[in-house]
Amino acid sequence: MTLTSHPIRRHDHLTFNGNLRHTRHGWLRLTPAYSVNLVNDILSSVNGGTGIVLDPFGGTGTTALTCAERGIQCDTTDINPFLLWLTSAKAAVYTPCDIERFKTEVERVSESLAAGHTDQPLWIPALHQIEKWWDETTLASLAAAMATINVIAMQEPDSVSNLLRVTFCRIMIESSNASFAHQSMSFRKNGNQAPLIPIRYLWDETADLIARSAASPVLCEPRAISCDARDLLRVLSPQHYTCVITSPPYPNRMSYIRELRPYMYWLGYLTDARQAGDMDWQAIGGTWGCATSNVGKWTPDKPQPVPFPEFTLILKKIADSSDTLSRYVHKYFYDMITHVDSLYRVMAHGGSVHYIVGNSKFYNVLLPVEQIFSALFENAGFRDITITPIRKRSSKRELFEFVVSAIKP
Ligand SMILES: C[S@@+](CC[C@H](N)C(=O)[O-])C[C@H]1O[C@@H](n2cnc3c(N)ncnc32)[C@H](O)[C@@H]1O
Repeated sequence: MTLTSHPIRRHDHLTFNGNLRHTRHGWLRLTPAYSVNLVNDILSSVNGGTGIVLDPFGGTGTTALTCAERGIQCDTTDINPFLLWLTSAKAAVYTPCDIERFKTEVERVSESLAAGHTDQPLWIPALHQIEKWWDETTLASLAAAMATINVIAMQEPDSVSNLLRVTFCRIMIESSNASFAHQSMSFRKNGNQAPLIPIRYLWDETADLIARSAASPVLCEPRAISCDARDLLRVLSPQHYTCVITSPPYPNRMSYIRELRPYMYWLGYLTDARQAGDMDWQAIGGTWGCATSNVGKWTPDKPQPVPFPEFTLILKKIADSSDTLSRYVHKYFYDMITHVDSLYRVMAHGGSVHYIVGNSKFYNVLLPVEQIFSALFENAGFRDITITPIRKRSSKRELFEFVVSAIKP
């Protein structure tokens, strides 16, 4: 294993902050996303854009869209249905006719937003303490807009309703009381107030931006496939992919489901809290709702030691402060062993993998995530493994992001 190093600073262009708002990459700025610049750099360095790319933890579709824009064939998998929908919507080809129809329907939604009601009773999602998210007037306007979009969806092709839903998601979050100033979502301190910009204006402005970026060329639509990354062969072909670019969930207790709740409730991907916990329990590293109590009781169901010499000692040190956290870290890497073995089988010989990972720290115990991934790759049969630090993370002093790369011989 080689450790490449160069000066590390905070490189904002290597985070999702680099994914410009006026492009498709900036349609929804969600916490799980990584940087389009990073994906482009790796694609240019590996194979000049040929071959078949896979992103097994596709998230918001950054790898898929970058490949689509460059004309590279890409498959992406995830277990979250909302993110799969978003990836397909972001990386679809929109014809001039689709965009014209979208603009016409934008007017209809705009009118319902102004009225704040429809002829039917308004549905609002069962999001816990929804009154913390939006004031009453904004919530009524959003409900009216969603009702209109649902009617339009029965009359128009998916391309048009998808663009309306993306626009909705963006104004829904921008008109909310949510703050994304920290690593995970919280509510703004000054309480729930009506947004400063009238919601109809926000809608019109956002729709205009989405219409312009949807016209940007997509040369090769990706496939967004529902699949657990621990069992890739269930849906993917063996020895098929020449390049993998991905960022798996980090072992830092961040829950994607928690962050994505408002989107998932409004679009009908979640209907109650129990479902959210169950979905997060399926995610590697999930910790929301019942996933936390499940992890507190978790034990490996087969002997599968993590092939990193200090791993047992690290678990023991974490367990001295929290037994649950120690089990959490153990389960994370236990799942990753299964994933890496499954990944090896779908990779073509000579293919390269590139994992963007961050290290973690629990109770002063540093978890060298990049080195453990390197050990997992080696153990599965990958060779020529390198670890390249790419940036310092904003949170704690010792926390960095790395690219761990390897080749399947
Ligand atoms: C760090 S995010 C990926 C972000 C992505 N690079 C982007 O730019 O949006 C990790 C993703 O892994 C997904 N995930 C977690 N467990 C999974 C599993 N078992 N199989 C497939 N995907 C999983 C999560 O739903 C999340 O979308």
